[in-house]
Amino acid sequence: MPGKKLYFGTNLKMYKGIRETVSYLSQLEQLTADMDPETVQLFVIPSYTSLPDAVRSLRHKRLLLGAQNMCWEEKGQFTGEISPLMLKELGLDLVEISPLMLQELGISIVELGHSERRHVFGETNAMINQKVIAGLKSGFTVLLCVGETEEEKNWGISDETLRIQLKTGLKDIPPGLTGRLWIAYEPVWAIGINGQPASVEYARDKHELIRNTLYEIAGTDGREIPLLYGGSVNPSNADALILQPSVDGLFVGRSAWNAADFNALIRSAIHSAAYKQQCT
Ligand code: PGA
Repeated sequence: MPGKKLYFGTNLKMYKGIRETVSYLSQLEQLTADMDPETVQLFVIPSYTSLPDAVRSLRHKRLLLGAQNMCWEEKGQFTGEISPLMLKELGLDLVEISPLMLQELGISIVELGHSERRHVFGETNAMINQKVIAGLKSGFTVLLCVGETEEEKNWGISDETLRIQLKTGLKDIPPGLTGRLWIAYEPVWAIGINGQPASVEYARDKHELIRNTLYEIAGTDGREIPLLYGGSVNPSNADALILQPSVDGLFVGRSAWNAADFNALIRSAIHSAAYKQQCT
């Protein structure tokens, strides 16, 4: 029996400029050229200003590109925002391609509700819900990030927080579009230089809660939604995390920003998953 499909991606946040992004992508593409996208889905989410060059620099479609945010409206008085139409435009000039391939050649993913959007820039669940609906309707894969703060964890309301973020974030999503929905569980207290990685058991429990909530929201389709863990993923915890049945992938920050290191982390995780598969 084939193992589950695995997802490995990184959000470059506000770190790499155009040149660095293009060089990173070219290294990562070369290093991971032998990985089959049917079984291992790789993705990178660069800054907005790097996106056009990132799109043009890719040699193949094994690696998907995403945007770090998106407005829910197509146009309007939204200074500083980027519309779904603007993201869809990227890649249009590449070659004469069928409209069906456009999304794969350009930007395929929009990341919504990252902790820094919620907690530094004040995005609410209601705003994120509008963005999720717009992202799905515009043909993107939506990567919705959820996670509790340290305060919420200390209050003992992590589960409630996650359920609220999921039930409000996914309210009224168009039926039949959950096939383009991915979820990243990223406890806020585990993210970034001051973060403490969640224990594997903690991550597993929260993934199970998220999986059950997705089932409540989307029925059996909810079982198919890829569920990624993020927050201080590093070479010493990646293998154990990916071995959890409820973890379909890893959303990696700092440990992915050197292409060789990310390639090594991915290979080690794939190897562990394949080994476990052989033994079961
Ligand atoms: P980190 O970032 O791996 O550097 O903690 C994770 C994230 O913000 O997605």
